[in-house]
Amino acid sequence: PAIEYGLEAPFSIEYHDAVESTNDLARERAVEGAVDVAVLADQQRGGRGRLDREWSSPPGGVWVSVVNRPAIAPPRAPLYTLAAAVATARAAREAGVDARIKWPNDVVVPVDDDGGYLKLAGVLTEMEGETDRVEWLVVGVGVNANVDAATLPDRATSVRERADDVDRRRFVQRLLEEFDGLRTDLEAVVPAWRELALTLGQRVRIERPRDAVVGDAVDVTETGALVVDTDDGRETVSTGDCEHLRPV
Ligand code: BTN
Repeated sequence: PAIEYGLEAPFSIEYHDAVESTNDLARERAVEGAVDVAVLADQQRGGRGRLDREWSSPPGGVWVSVVNRPAIAPPRAPLYTLAAAVATARAAREAGVDARIKWPNDVVVPVDDDGGYLKLAGVLTEMEGETDRVEWLVVGVGVNANVDAATLPDRATSVRERADDVDRRRFVQRLLEEFDGLRTDLEAVVPAWRELALTLGQRVRIERPRDAVVGDAVDVTETGALVVDTDDGRETVSTGDCEHLRPV
């Protein structure tokens, strides 16, 4: 059952101790017609990452999914994902962590000068709609907040490990406020994203379903696609096509 969460936020909060996945619950709410609902849980038994990967979600993290009904066409939906990454990075920076964004939407902490990083948070967006109109869009954010280093997956870090434990209620509030500010001003998303980008200026290799792109990441487009200068010219990689990106 949902518990009163006591948060002043631009979303109505539905809080649970434990769920399979907050994205699954938020999708149910979306299908029921809900709008501006944030589903939060202390832990997830079946947290999901991008590309059907598992997402470890022990107690102490921030596992939250937001239901949106934006008046936008599907090609602009990635802006919501980038906005969530920016909002999460900003909240983490306020908590004292040097959070940056690895394209498209991993919130990471740099660990060396060669593009090395550890993952702090991720975003999983799911949507339903027609070709010209988004009906609903669920944006799920997972943040390793007060999570012990020993229980983290490989190449991951937590706010607890990099700074100190956070007041999760305050963290979620900041995250949701920042996200709301950006989703109501979509023109501001890409400039805000650029400021926090770890990927721009790096030489990268991106795996796509059928091939790979190697080159210098120079910019993102107004819909969040990555512009890469390769030996054979300029390529634009959309967020949906990226299976993996690594600095080379
Ligand atoms: C990724 O980096 O692969 C995305 C991870 C997204 C995890 C969050 S946690 C809250 C929401 N519920 C889920 O099952 N997944 C997202």
